[in-house]
Amino acid sequence: FVVPVVLAGGVGSRLWPVSREFFAKPFLPLVDVSFSLLQQTMLRAGSLSLNMADPIVVCHEDHRFLIAQQQQSIGVKNARILLEPKGRNTAPAIALAALEALRCAKDDVIILVLPADHVIRDMAAFEVTINQAVELAKDDALVTFGVQPTRPETGYGYIRSGEHFAVAEFVEKPNLETAQAYLDLGDYLWNSGMFLFRAKAFLDELAVHRDDIYQAVNKAYQQRTEDLDFVRIDATLFAQCPEESIDFAVMEHTKKAKVVPYAGDWSDIGAWDALYDYAGKDADNNVLLGDVMAEGATNCLIRSESRLIAAVGVQDLVIVETADAVLVMDKNNAQNVKKIVQRIKDEG
Ligand code: GDD
Ligand code: MG
Repeated sequence: FVVPVVLAGGVGSRLWPVSREFFAKPFLPLVDVSFSLLQQTMLRAGSLSLNMADPIVVCHEDHRFLIAQQQQSIGVKNARILLEPKGRNTAPAIALAALEALRCAKDDVIILVLPADHVIRDMAAFEVTINQAVELAKDDALVTFGVQPTRPETGYGYIRSGEHFAVAEFVEKPNLETAQAYLDLGDYLWNSGMFLFRAKAFLDELAVHRDDIYQAVNKAYQQRTEDLDFVRIDATLFAQCPEESIDFAVMEHTKKAKVVPYAGDWSDIGAWDALYDYAGKDADNNVLLGDVMAEGATNCLIRSESRLIAAVGVQDLVIVETADAVLVMDKNNAQNVKKIVQRIKDEG
Protein backbone atom coordinates (compact mmCIF):
# COMPACT_ATOMS: atom_id res chain seq x y z
CA PHE A 1 0.00 0.00 0.00
CA VAL A 2 0.93 3.67 -0.26
CA VAL A 3 1.65 6.04 2.64
CA PRO A 4 0.91 9.72 1.96
CA VAL A 5 3.64 11.98 3.35
CA VAL A 6 2.48 15.55 3.76
CA LEU A 7 5.16 18.24 3.97
CA ALA A 8 3.88 21.17 5.97
CA GLY A 9 7.02 23.07 6.88
CA GLY A 10 7.10 26.19 4.75
CA VAL A 11 5.80 29.63 5.68
CA GLY A 12 4.78 31.16 2.35
CA SER A 13 6.12 34.64 3.02
CA ARG A 14 5.10 35.90 -0.43
CA LEU A 15 1.49 35.57 0.68
CA TRP A 16 1.84 38.16 3.44
CA PRO A 17 -0.20 39.61 5.14
CA VAL A 18 -2.47 36.57 5.16
CA SER A 19 0.31 34.03 5.58
CA ARG A 20 2.30 34.60 8.78
CA GLU A 21 5.03 32.64 10.52
CA PHE A 22 2.52 30.95 12.79
CA PHE A 23 -0.59 30.97 10.64
CA ALA A 24 1.26 29.86 7.52
CA LYS A 25 0.21 29.05 3.99
CA PRO A 26 -0.70 25.34 4.40
CA PHE A 27 -3.08 26.09 7.26
CA LEU A 28 -5.10 28.75 5.47
CA PRO A 29 -8.25 28.47 3.39
CA LEU A 30 -6.63 30.43 0.55
CA VAL A 31 -8.62 29.15 -2.38
CA ASP A 32 -11.45 27.09 -0.99
CA VAL A 33 -13.08 28.87 1.92
CA SER A 34 -14.02 25.77 3.88
CA PHE A 35 -10.78 23.80 3.91
CA SER A 36 -7.14 24.80 4.34
CA LEU A 37 -4.58 23.68 1.76
CA LEU A 38 -3.36 21.08 4.27
CA GLN A 39 -6.86 19.69 4.70
CA GLN A 40 -7.39 19.62 0.95
CA THR A 41 -4.11 17.74 0.54
CA MET A 42 -5.16 15.11 3.07
CA LEU A 43 -8.60 14.76 1.53
CA ARG A 44 -7.03 14.39 -1.92
CA ALA A 45 -4.73 11.60 -0.75
CA GLY A 46 -7.59 9.88 1.07
CA SER A 47 -9.82 9.91 -1.98
CA LEU A 48 -7.40 7.97 -4.20
CA SER A 49 -8.69 4.53 -5.00
CA LEU A 50 -5.31 2.96 -4.21
CA ASN A 51 -4.89 1.24 -0.92
CA MET A 52 -3.85 4.30 1.09
CA ALA A 53 -2.46 4.08 4.62
CA ASP A 54 -2.90 6.77 7.28
CA PRO A 55 -0.77 9.80 6.42
CA ILE A 56 2.52 10.92 7.91
CA VAL A 57 2.74 14.69 8.36
CA VAL A 58 6.12 16.39 8.77
CA CYS A 59 6.00 19.87 10.28
CA HIS A 60 7.48 22.34 12.74
CA GLU A 61 6.71 21.44 16.35
CA ASP A 62 5.00 24.80 16.94
CA HIS A 63 2.29 23.75 14.49
CA ARG A 64 1.43 20.44 16.16
CA PHE A 65 -1.92 21.42 17.70
CA LEU A 66 -3.03 23.39 14.67
CA ILE A 67 -2.35 20.37 12.47
CA ALA A 68 -3.89 17.87 14.87
CA GLN A 69 -7.03 19.97 15.08
CA GLN A 70 -7.27 20.54 11.31
CA GLN A 71 -6.88 16.87 10.62
CA GLN A 72 -9.41 15.79 13.23
CA SER A 73 -11.98 18.17 11.83
CA ILE A 74 -11.88 16.33 8.49
CA GLY A 75 -12.03 12.92 10.14
CA VAL A 76 -8.39 11.85 9.72
CA LYS A 77 -7.72 10.06 12.98
CA ASN A 78 -4.48 8.13 12.81
CA ALA A 79 -1.96 10.38 11.13
CA ARG A 80 1.57 10.22 12.53
CA ILE A 81 2.87 13.74 13.04
CA LEU A 82 6.67 14.08 12.90
CA LEU A 83 7.80 17.23 14.67
CA GLU A 84 10.89 19.05 13.50
CA PRO A 85 12.46 21.33 16.13
CA LYS A 86 13.68 23.46 13.22
CA GLY A 87 13.14 22.69 9.53
CA ARG A 88 16.18 21.48 7.56
CA ASN A 89 14.46 21.64 4.16
CA THR A 90 12.86 18.81 2.22
CA ALA A 91 15.63 16.19 1.94
CA PRO A 92 15.79 15.68 5.73
CA ALA A 93 12.00 16.03 6.12
CA ILE A 94 11.32 13.32 3.53
CA ALA A 95 14.06 11.11 4.97
CA LEU A 96 12.41 11.30 8.41
CA ALA A 97 9.09 10.28 6.89
CA ALA A 98 10.71 7.45 4.96
CA LEU A 99 12.29 6.07 8.14
CA GLU A 100 8.95 6.30 9.95
CA ALA A 101 7.11 4.58 7.08
CA LEU A 102 9.67 1.77 7.05
CA ARG A 103 9.36 1.28 10.79
CA CYS A 104 5.56 1.08 10.63
CA ALA A 105 5.21 -0.96 7.45
CA LYS A 106 6.90 -3.59 5.33
CA ASP A 107 10.20 -3.18 3.53
CA ASP A 108 8.64 -2.43 0.16
CA VAL A 109 6.34 0.34 1.39
CA ILE A 110 5.77 3.17 -1.11
CA ILE A 111 5.43 6.79 -0.03
CA LEU A 112 3.66 9.58 -1.91
CA VAL A 113 5.21 12.93 -0.97
CA LEU A 114 2.73 15.79 -1.16
CA PRO A 115 3.53 19.41 -0.31
CA ALA A 116 0.72 20.68 1.92
CA ASP A 117 0.36 23.91 0.01
CA HIS A 118 -0.54 22.90 -3.53
CA VAL A 119 -3.93 23.02 -5.19
CA ILE A 120 -5.14 20.36 -7.59
CA ARG A 121 -8.75 20.12 -8.65
CA ASP A 122 -8.60 17.55 -11.44
CA MET A 123 -8.83 14.37 -9.35
CA ALA A 124 -9.35 12.12 -12.39
CA ALA A 125 -6.05 13.19 -13.99
CA PHE A 126 -4.29 13.04 -10.63
CA GLU A 127 -5.46 9.49 -10.06
CA VAL A 128 -4.27 8.29 -13.50
CA THR A 129 -0.84 9.83 -12.91
CA ILE A 130 -0.43 8.33 -9.45
CA ASN A 131 -1.33 4.87 -10.71
CA GLN A 132 1.33 5.12 -13.44
CA ALA A 133 3.87 6.24 -10.85
CA VAL A 134 3.15 3.31 -8.54
CA GLU A 135 3.99 0.86 -11.32
CA LEU A 136 7.34 2.58 -11.94
CA ALA A 137 8.15 2.77 -8.23
CA LYS A 138 7.89 -1.00 -7.89
CA ASP A 139 11.19 -1.13 -9.82
CA ASP A 140 12.79 1.29 -7.36
CA ALA A 141 12.35 4.40 -9.50
CA LEU A 142 12.18 7.81 -7.82
CA VAL A 143 9.14 9.18 -9.61
CA THR A 144 8.50 12.88 -10.22
CA PHE A 145 5.39 14.43 -11.71
CA GLY A 146 5.97 16.74 -14.67
CA VAL A 147 3.76 19.73 -15.35
CA GLN A 148 3.65 21.64 -18.67
CA PRO A 149 5.46 24.95 -18.07
CA THR A 150 3.73 28.21 -18.98
CA ARG A 151 6.34 30.84 -18.02
CA PRO A 152 10.11 30.95 -17.31
CA GLU A 153 9.62 30.50 -13.56
CA THR A 154 12.97 30.43 -11.74
CA GLY A 155 11.58 29.01 -8.50
CA TYR A 156 10.88 25.58 -9.96
CA GLY A 157 12.79 22.50 -11.03
CA TYR A 158 12.94 21.62 -14.76
CA ILE A 159 12.86 18.08 -16.11
CA ARG A 160 13.82 16.96 -19.58
CA SER A 161 12.11 13.65 -20.20
CA GLY A 162 13.63 10.80 -22.17
CA GLU A 163 12.07 7.58 -23.39
CA HIS A 164 9.95 5.34 -21.19
CA PHE A 165 9.49 7.95 -18.47
CA ALA A 166 13.26 8.36 -18.01
CA VAL A 167 14.56 11.67 -16.69
CA ALA A 168 17.27 12.84 -19.11
CA GLU A 169 18.06 15.90 -17.02
CA PHE A 170 16.84 17.51 -13.78
CA VAL A 171 17.77 21.14 -13.12
CA GLU A 172 16.60 22.79 -9.92
CA LYS A 173 15.88 26.53 -9.96
CA PRO A 174 17.75 27.60 -13.12
CA ASN A 175 18.40 31.29 -13.77
CA LEU A 176 15.99 33.26 -15.92
CA GLU A 177 18.01 32.90 -19.11
CA THR A 178 18.23 29.13 -18.75
CA ALA A 179 14.55 28.83 -17.82
CA GLN A 180 13.60 30.83 -20.92
CA ALA A 181 15.84 28.59 -23.07
CA TYR A 182 14.10 25.49 -21.66
CA LEU A 183 10.73 27.00 -22.47
CA ASP A 184 11.83 27.81 -26.03
CA LEU A 185 13.20 24.28 -26.53
CA GLY A 186 9.81 22.95 -25.52
CA ASP A 187 10.84 19.55 -24.17
CA TYR A 188 11.13 20.48 -20.50
CA LEU A 189 8.52 19.99 -17.82
CA TRP A 190 8.22 21.68 -14.44
CA ASN A 191 8.84 19.50 -11.44
CA SER A 192 5.57 19.64 -9.53
CA GLY A 193 7.26 19.03 -6.16
CA MET A 194 5.35 15.80 -5.53
CA PHE A 195 7.28 12.52 -5.47
CA LEU A 196 6.49 8.83 -5.26
CA PHE A 197 8.97 6.07 -4.41
CA ARG A 198 9.66 3.14 -2.17
CA ALA A 199 10.83 4.57 1.14
CA LYS A 200 13.84 2.29 1.00
CA ALA A 201 14.76 3.24 -2.57
CA PHE A 202 14.80 6.91 -1.57
CA LEU A 203 16.92 6.35 1.55
CA ASP A 204 19.40 4.25 -0.44
CA GLU A 205 19.79 7.00 -3.05
CA LEU A 206 20.11 9.66 -0.36
CA ALA A 207 22.91 7.60 1.20
CA VAL A 208 24.62 7.32 -2.21
CA HIS A 209 24.50 11.04 -3.00
CA ARG A 210 24.37 12.70 0.44
CA ASP A 211 25.44 10.21 3.06
CA ASP A 212 26.02 13.12 5.47
CA ILE A 213 22.31 13.98 5.38
CA TYR A 214 21.28 10.34 5.61
CA GLN A 215 23.49 9.69 8.65
CA ALA A 216 22.45 12.88 10.44
CA VAL A 217 18.73 12.25 9.92
CA ASN A 218 19.05 8.64 10.97
CA LYS A 219 20.81 9.59 14.23
CA ALA A 220 18.22 12.24 15.05
CA TYR A 221 15.36 9.88 14.21
CA GLN A 222 16.76 7.09 16.42
CA GLN A 223 16.69 9.49 19.38
CA ARG A 224 13.04 10.45 18.87
CA THR A 225 10.49 10.61 21.64
CA GLU A 226 6.87 9.71 21.10
CA ASP A 227 3.77 11.00 22.74
CA LEU A 228 0.47 9.79 21.31
CA ASP A 229 0.45 10.57 17.57
CA PHE A 230 3.34 13.04 17.86
CA VAL A 231 6.88 11.92 17.12
CA ARG A 232 9.41 14.45 18.37
CA ILE A 233 12.79 14.51 16.62
CA ASP A 234 15.89 15.14 18.75
CA ALA A 235 16.68 18.86 18.51
CA THR A 236 20.44 18.80 19.04
CA LEU A 237 21.04 15.98 16.57
CA PHE A 238 18.64 17.31 13.95
CA ALA A 239 20.27 20.74 14.13
CA GLN A 240 23.48 19.08 12.95
CA CYS A 241 21.82 17.86 9.78
CA PRO A 242 22.79 19.78 6.62
CA GLU A 243 19.95 21.89 5.25
CA GLU A 244 19.10 20.88 1.68
CA SER A 245 16.17 20.21 -0.63
CA ILE A 246 15.45 16.79 -2.13
CA ASP A 247 15.87 18.42 -5.53
CA PHE A 248 19.48 19.51 -5.00
CA ALA A 249 20.45 16.60 -2.73
CA VAL A 250 19.05 13.72 -4.76
CA MET A 251 16.97 14.49 -7.85
CA GLU A 252 19.68 16.38 -9.74
CA HIS A 253 22.10 13.47 -9.31
CA THR A 254 20.22 10.20 -9.19
CA LYS A 255 20.04 7.89 -12.19
CA LYS A 256 16.85 6.35 -10.86
CA ALA A 257 14.60 9.33 -11.52
CA LYS A 258 11.51 8.90 -13.67
CA VAL A 259 8.91 11.44 -14.70
CA VAL A 260 5.23 10.88 -15.23
CA PRO A 261 3.49 13.73 -17.00
CA TYR A 262 0.62 15.23 -15.05
CA ALA A 263 -1.89 16.82 -17.40
CA GLY A 264 -4.41 18.19 -14.91
CA ASP A 265 -4.47 21.56 -13.21
CA TRP A 266 -1.81 22.33 -10.64
CA SER A 267 -0.59 25.37 -8.76
CA ASP A 268 1.76 25.80 -5.82
CA ILE A 269 0.11 29.16 -5.05
CA GLY A 270 3.56 30.55 -4.34
CA ALA A 271 2.52 34.19 -4.44
CA TRP A 272 -0.55 36.42 -4.95
CA ASP A 273 -0.17 36.48 -8.74
CA ALA A 274 -0.27 32.66 -8.77
CA LEU A 275 -3.45 32.71 -6.70
CA TYR A 276 -4.92 35.24 -9.15
CA ASP A 277 -4.00 33.02 -12.11
CA TYR A 278 -5.53 30.00 -10.47
CA ALA A 279 -8.77 31.42 -9.11
CA GLY A 280 -12.02 31.94 -11.02
CA LYS A 281 -12.47 35.50 -12.38
CA ASP A 282 -15.50 37.73 -12.88
CA ALA A 283 -16.46 39.50 -16.14
CA ASP A 284 -13.85 42.23 -15.53
CA ASN A 285 -11.13 39.66 -14.90
CA ASN A 286 -11.11 40.38 -11.18
CA VAL A 287 -10.77 37.91 -8.35
CA LEU A 288 -12.81 39.39 -5.50
CA LEU A 289 -12.75 37.55 -2.18
CA GLY A 290 -14.76 38.61 0.85
CA ASP A 291 -16.47 41.98 1.30
CA VAL A 292 -15.33 43.80 -1.87
CA MET A 293 -16.99 46.24 -4.27
CA ALA A 294 -15.34 47.05 -7.61
CA GLU A 295 -16.35 49.79 -10.07
CA GLY A 296 -14.47 49.91 -13.32
CA ALA A 297 -11.61 47.88 -11.84
CA THR A 298 -9.97 45.25 -14.04
CA ASN A 299 -7.45 42.42 -13.62
CA CYS A 300 -7.30 42.84 -9.86
CA LEU A 301 -7.08 40.43 -6.94
CA ILE A 302 -8.85 41.96 -3.95
CA ARG A 303 -9.30 40.05 -0.72
CA SER A 304 -10.94 41.38 2.41
CA GLU A 305 -11.08 39.78 5.83
CA SER A 306 -12.43 42.36 8.20
CA ARG A 307 -13.98 45.32 6.35
CA LEU A 308 -15.37 46.50 3.05
CA ILE A 309 -12.85 47.26 0.30
CA ALA A 310 -14.03 49.48 -2.54
CA ALA A 311 -11.87 49.70 -5.67
CA VAL A 312 -12.61 52.21 -8.42
CA GLY A 313 -11.01 52.44 -11.84
CA VAL A 314 -7.82 50.58 -10.96
CA GLN A 315 -5.99 47.88 -12.90
CA ASP A 316 -3.57 45.05 -12.20
CA LEU A 317 -3.59 45.61 -8.46
CA VAL A 318 -3.40 43.18 -5.60
CA ILE A 319 -5.15 44.48 -2.49
CA VAL A 320 -5.14 42.21 0.54
CA GLU A 321 -6.64 43.35 3.80
CA THR A 322 -6.40 41.74 7.23
CA ALA A 323 -7.22 43.12 10.67
CA ASP A 324 -3.71 44.48 11.20
CA ALA A 325 -2.20 45.05 7.76
CA VAL A 326 -3.14 46.05 4.21
CA LEU A 327 -1.10 45.17 1.16
CA VAL A 328 -1.47 47.26 -2.02
CA MET A 329 0.75 46.08 -4.84
CA ASP A 330 1.23 46.02 -8.59
CA LYS A 331 0.32 42.47 -9.59
CA ASN A 332 3.54 42.16 -11.61
CA ASN A 333 5.55 42.69 -8.45
CA ALA A 334 4.23 39.79 -6.47
CA GLN A 335 7.62 38.22 -5.73
CA ASN A 336 8.75 41.31 -3.85
CA VAL A 337 6.39 40.93 -0.89
CA LYS A 338 9.20 38.85 0.60
CA LYS A 339 11.23 42.04 0.93
CA ILE A 340 8.54 43.65 3.07
CA VAL A 341 8.36 40.56 5.26
CA GLN A 342 12.13 40.68 5.69
CA ARG A 343 11.98 44.39 6.61
CA ILE A 344 9.25 43.75 9.17
CA LYS A 345 11.51 41.09 10.72
CA ASP A 346 14.60 43.32 10.65
CA GLU A 347 12.96 46.54 11.74
CA GLY A 348 10.71 44.77 14.25
N1 GDD B 1 8.33 19.56 7.08
C1 GDD B 1 9.02 20.37 6.31
N2 GDD B 1 10.26 20.76 6.72
N3 GDD B 1 8.48 20.80 5.15
C2 GDD B 1 9.21 21.63 4.38
C3 GDD B 1 10.49 22.08 4.75
C4 GDD B 1 11.04 21.61 6.00
O1 GDD B 1 12.15 21.95 6.42
N4 GDD B 1 10.95 22.91 3.79
C5 GDD B 1 9.98 22.98 2.85
N5 GDD B 1 8.92 22.22 3.22
C6 GDD B 1 7.66 22.00 2.48
C7 GDD B 1 7.03 23.31 2.06
O2 GDD B 1 6.05 23.70 3.01
C8 GDD B 1 6.39 22.94 0.75
O3 GDD B 1 5.13 22.37 0.98
C9 GDD B 1 7.30 21.85 0.18
O4 GDD B 1 7.99 21.33 1.29
C10 GDD B 1 8.28 22.35 -0.88
O5 GDD B 1 9.12 23.31 -0.31
P1 GDD B 1 9.34 24.73 -0.98
O6 GDD B 1 10.30 25.49 -0.13
O7 GDD B 1 8.03 25.37 -1.26
O8 GDD B 1 10.07 24.32 -2.32
P2 GDD B 1 10.14 25.17 -3.66
O9 GDD B 1 8.77 25.66 -4.02
O10 GDD B 1 11.21 26.17 -3.53
O11 GDD B 1 10.59 24.06 -4.75
C11 GDD B 1 10.02 22.78 -4.82
O12 GDD B 1 8.70 22.82 -5.34
C12 GDD B 1 8.58 23.30 -6.71
C13 GDD B 1 7.12 23.24 -7.13
O13 GDD B 1 6.31 23.95 -6.24
C14 GDD B 1 10.94 21.94 -5.72
O14 GDD B 1 10.59 20.59 -5.62
C15 GDD B 1 10.88 22.41 -7.18
O15 GDD B 1 11.65 21.54 -8.00
C16 GDD B 1 9.43 22.41 -7.66
O16 GDD B 1 9.35 22.90 -9.01
MG1 MG C 1 6.98 25.93 -3.03
